[in-house]
Amino acid sequence: MSSPRIAVIAGDGIGPEVIEQAIRVADAAVHKYDQTALAWNHLPWSSEYYKRTGHIVPADGWDLLAQHDAIFLGAVGSPDVPDTVTVHGLLLPMRRKFDQYVNLRPAYLFEGVTSPLSGKKPGSIDMLVYRENTEGEYAPIGGRLYPGTTDDIAIQTAVFTWRGCERIMRAAFEGARKRRKKVHSITKSNALPYGMVLWDEVFREVAKDYPDVQTYSLLVDAAAMDFVRKPEIFDVVVASNLFGDILTDLSAIVTGSVGLAASANLNPERKYPSMFEPVHGSAPDIAGKGIANPLAAVLSVAMLLDHLHLEKSGQAVRRAVATVLKEGKALTPDLGGKATTREVADATIAAI
Ligand code: NAD
Ligand code: IPM
Ligand code: MN
Repeated sequence: MSSPRIAVIAGDGIGPEVIEQAIRVADAAVHKYDQTALAWNHLPWSSEYYKRTGHIVPADGWDLLAQHDAIFLGAVGSPDVPDTVTVHGLLLPMRRKFDQYVNLRPAYLFEGVTSPLSGKKPGSIDMLVYRENTEGEYAPIGGRLYPGTTDDIAIQTAVFTWRGCERIMRAAFEGARKRRKKVHSITKSNALPYGMVLWDEVFREVAKDYPDVQTYSLLVDAAAMDFVRKPEIFDVVVASNLFGDILTDLSAIVTGSVGLAASANLNPERKYPSMFEPVHGSAPDIAGKGIANPLAAVLSVAMLLDHLHLEKSGQAVRRAVATVLKEGKALTPDLGGKATTREVADATIAAI
């Protein structure tokens, strides 16, 4: 088979630090378990690149990206560059342009990792969040009237479509069938009587096609409480763009660290490349110190390998991460250790 072509956008802050190590881990796994090689195409798009060139994605950038089998992204965002450039110029348009409407975010409490919640056993927290990734509260629709004055008015509109709700919910139900057959839908229809009421209606309709799956509808504020109070009850969770964003930082921390939280931004039809990235951001507070946990990026690249049908390698990476965490010898400071980013990757490669 010819080498899969993967676009790499390492980005800002700790993005390049964790991406470099995740690529080493992926190469080791693929070499051993799938006897192939990956063709990584490094694209310099970042805040630094923007400061040099005046744009974060070059004119032909989207066409170039579209020619790849997948995209591996670190993080974008810098204190000295506005979000309009980084987040709204690269990350969010990518999710929409490539119709990556399923944002899959697993959270698993590994053996050897201490949850900030007391008394949680390994594996007792094991959830998979399906976050809607192309519309909802993130739809860039709205405007400002009289900006720069105290008469300023801001309108920010959320967009919920039947089609958008249905496709993320169907993906969640299909995913639940491969797991414990439970889906929690996250809503706020008590306060948001249009978008979230539509969300609930679509959920009830889609659920009819999956009578073998248990369903629950939970208000987002109560869900936030239950992610802490009894995270064991969750299997598959389906949520809107904003609710899914917030709840997955919560699911990340109750399973030990955002430094372990992986994600896939999937275009299930494979019309466009899917994108894989850690849940965390560029972490300016620890950037350049060599202490960022690379395992969120490593587990994200494992999802990328699965997507490319290199499941043996994906599995091997996940097994190696589990071994490293269980042994507890090479852990970064977020997990209570003293190891560097590179040392954690070295240990993971050794486990492979
Ligand atoms: P963040 O996730 O970058 O950091 C939050 C906290 O978690 C910080 O204390 C950080 O040190 C810690 N942390 C994050 N990743 C870690 C890792 N791998 N190992 C150890 N500790 C880790 O969130 P933030 O500080 O709110 O955002 C910083 C910037 O990143 C902002 O510009 C934001 O917009 C951007 N951001 C980008 C993405 C993305 O590109 N996908 C995601 C989230 C945030
Ligand atoms: C994430 C990030 C992004 C989001 C930001 C950077 C816009 O927090 O991927 O979780 O909210 O989707
Ligand atoms: Mn987030």
